[in-house]
Amino acid sequence: MKQHLSHTPGPIGVFDSGYGGLTILNKIKEVLPEYDYIYLGDNARTPYGSRSFEIVYEFTLQAVNKLFEMGCHLVILACNTASAKALRSIQINDLPNIDATRRVLGVIRPTAECIGSITQSQHIGILATAGTIKSESYPLEIHKLFPDIHVNGVACPMWVPLVENNEARDEGSDYFIRKYIDQLLQKDSQIDTIILGCTHYPILLPKISKYVPEQIRVIAQGEYVAKSLKDYLRRHPEMDAKCTRNSNCLFYTTEAEDKFIESATTFLNCPIEVQRISLE
Ligand code: DGL
Repeated sequence: MKQHLSHTPGPIGVFDSGYGGLTILNKIKEVLPEYDYIYLGDNARTPYGSRSFEIVYEFTLQAVNKLFEMGCHLVILACNTASAKALRSIQINDLPNIDATRRVLGVIRPTAECIGSITQSQHIGILATAGTIKSESYPLEIHKLFPDIHVNGVACPMWVPLVENNEARDEGSDYFIRKYIDQLLQKDSQIDTIILGCTHYPILLPKISKYVPEQIRVIAQGEYVAKSLKDYLRRHPEMDAKCTRNSNCLFYTTEAEDKFIESATTFLNCPIEVQRISLE
């Protein structure tokens, strides 16, 4: 059933299951500061990483529809789990019915594109949620572009809860940070590049850097996603014209507002206002 959506230009939507997408939004705003954004975090239902394909797809589609209703013509799934499990279905099956002129983009493809020019050993590691690792989206996307690169991944089911519960800087988190890094390096000792394949993980970078050997490069996705979005808008002037530019950013969460403000302010280093919404 087609929805009645406004054709007037609107902000760019940025969606994540929780706070992780803020690491992507930060970089996007650095590269494209003049645009307007709506950030939506489904904090009440995070984490997505351990949920089934059907549920991640259902939740992500609800969020995308909400951002379209709010006036966005372009939505970035700033969440690897949603990009891995829901993006293709939404692009192929849902967008034609909702509004074929709207677009939803993910974060896995832009990350895969950058990797060829970074690795020397041609051995890379992926740290991501169980859902993203199980989907095999990273090896699939990377091998489409760089068939000779060896890709090994390890799921880090404890990392998102550490971030969502504000434990990222706590001493107790060290055990779990080290555990998954060690598992990855045991799988392949030739790895010279590790992709943080979950948008929450850059928040753990100070601790991750402690346990990754110096010669291995750790890649956070924000910079690459931001560059890729800039390039997309340059190549698609019809979409660029539908994105407003007043340097505004609105925040929405499915959790309590004060909880979101407390954590988001730490990640963003600036005060924000947020509104609670329901996606169901
Ligand atoms: N930040 C998300 C990702 O990039 C999702 C984490 C989660 O909700 O499990 O995968």
